[in-house]
Amino acid sequence: MENKIKELQERNRQVELGGGLDSIAKQHEKGKMTARERLHYLLDDGSFHEIDKYVTHRCYDFGLDKKRVPGDGVVTGYGTIDGRDVFIFAEDFTVFGGSLSGAFSEKICKVMDLAHKNGAPIIGLKDSGGARIQEGVASLAGYGEIFKRNVRSSGVIPQISVIMGPCAGGAVYSPALTDFIIMVRETSNMFITGPQVIKEVTFEEVSSEDLGGAMAHNRKSGVAHFAVDSDKQALDLAKELLGFLPQSYREKSPPVACTDDPNRTDKELNVIVPSNPRLPYNVKKIIERVVDNGHFLEVQRYYARNMVVGFGRLNGIPVGIIANQPYFLAGCLDVRASMKCARFVRTCDAFNIPLVTFVDVPGFLPGVKQEHGGIIKHGAKIIYAYCEATVPKITVILRKAYGGAYLAMCSKHFDGDMNFAFPTGEIAVMGPEGACNIVFRKEIAQADDPEAMRKRLVDEYRNKLASPYKAAELGYIDEVISPEVTRPNLISALMLLQKKKVPMPEKRHGNVPF
Ligand code: HXC
Repeated sequence: MENKIKELQERNRQVELGGGLDSIAKQHEKGKMTARERLHYLLDDGSFHEIDKYVTHRCYDFGLDKKRVPGDGVVTGYGTIDGRDVFIFAEDFTVFGGSLSGAFSEKICKVMDLAHKNGAPIIGLKDSGGARIQEGVASLAGYGEIFKRNVRSSGVIPQISVIMGPCAGGAVYSPALTDFIIMVRETSNMFITGPQVIKEVTFEEVSSEDLGGAMAHNRKSGVAHFAVDSDKQALDLAKELLGFLPQSYREKSPPVACTDDPNRTDKELNVIVPSNPRLPYNVKKIIERVVDNGHFLEVQRYYARNMVVGFGRLNGIPVGIIANQPYFLAGCLDVRASMKCARFVRTCDAFNIPLVTFVDVPGFLPGVKQEHGGIIKHGAKIIYAYCEATVPKITVILRKAYGGAYLAMCSKHFDGDMNFAFPTGEIAVMGPEGACNIVFRKEIAQADDPEAMRKRLVDEYRNKLASPYKAAELGYIDEVISPEVTRPNLISALMLLQKKKVPMPEKRHGNVPF
């Protein structure tokens, strides 16, 4: 027995070494942790159980038959984070550059299947040179099996990808099919074809970081949701994010004990929205003053900054928050903001996370670029997502809510459960200036003082037609509230809606305007 135990210990020592001490040192030189260090940092102490640690590849070509490393470049298993079960895989760059073989993909598929069947999140820590070149089509098949599982688990369990090294070629599509992508600045990148191929094909010269680094995908492409400065920050963030998500679609996100007064009123809220409708303000100030302890985890903060989305808690209950941001593009809905909003609404709805929407939107952004960029189909995504969502939906109109954008931002007409407005709310077909120029064109032109006439008509329109009371008279606003009581009002609505149930129509699936 003693010998057998010694053999087991020796085998496990080999497993722990991955690609060897030199490769580990190289990994550290790049400022990266190893796969195992990442796992141990992320998971609760002593909770990690590794599976398939002795698996090796099945390639007999190119001298690989003599080069076998137990585990084959990916560490897979399960453990807990803050006491909650998670399944996990961490690509080990020290072994064949973390490249994916048939056996490697089978290991990942096994934990993905376990996560799916057991209703627990799956986290992928990505650090890989892509398909293992020597394995050819076997590695492509492996990616296919992973993508299929990503899709099957979509909306069933949360899937989080943390990109902590290279992620190239078709390999990028597994993270792209997951719910959230976290990227580490300087050490991670994602692209279909790298700088070298691009130079040969299109003659463009670009660095890896500019092409597919964390900021390229957070600011420009919108592929990623978060950018951080180090492996540790990425793992801390994954942990924080998980705290807002349920184990699966069958559950709700775990509430936390609330240390903030649910009845807290805040007079400062009365002065954040300027009474002059032309003046911008930072909507995040409102969000932070309303949520528990001012804690707001912003998602995609660098992309489409005219739209703010993220997670907060109200009375300890996680909520998804969506807000127009008057600081950028006056808060208009453009193509990028529409995609960002719609995707976030669907993510929350898939995982039973109530939606709180703050509205200050002059409309969809006009312009040839927007029209030809498909604002019709992309704007339709917001409409689709909110109409389809059956989680509790609470809306607060802060100021402008005009035209189609009024409807789109979770209006009563899309089954908003509780629709509030500040007294500064302006709800109408279009803004007062535009409306008066159309409806009262003749009166303005024929007036002795056209400017004075325009001003009088604009004021009259704003007060009579665009006021929140008109919508409240029609029942489209449930209550006009003083800004200072926003938090207690949101919390009482949220508590009321905890048992909301909506029957789903019978159909195979809708046809989202992708
Ligand atoms: C086999 C690979 C590999 C790969 C790296 N290695 N990528 N082995 N298949 N795809 C090996 C290297 O040979 C090397 O082995 C070790 O990993 C470390 O790699 P280095 O190049 O020394 O590291 P570094 O300088 O940091 O460069 C990392 C890298 C580079 C940028 C990722 O290795 C690279 O460009 N690799 C190829 C990337 C690629 O084109 N992949 C295919 C994408 S297409 P030794 O023995 O020397 O230590 C794809 C299709 C998927 O993935 C389609 C799915 C549908």
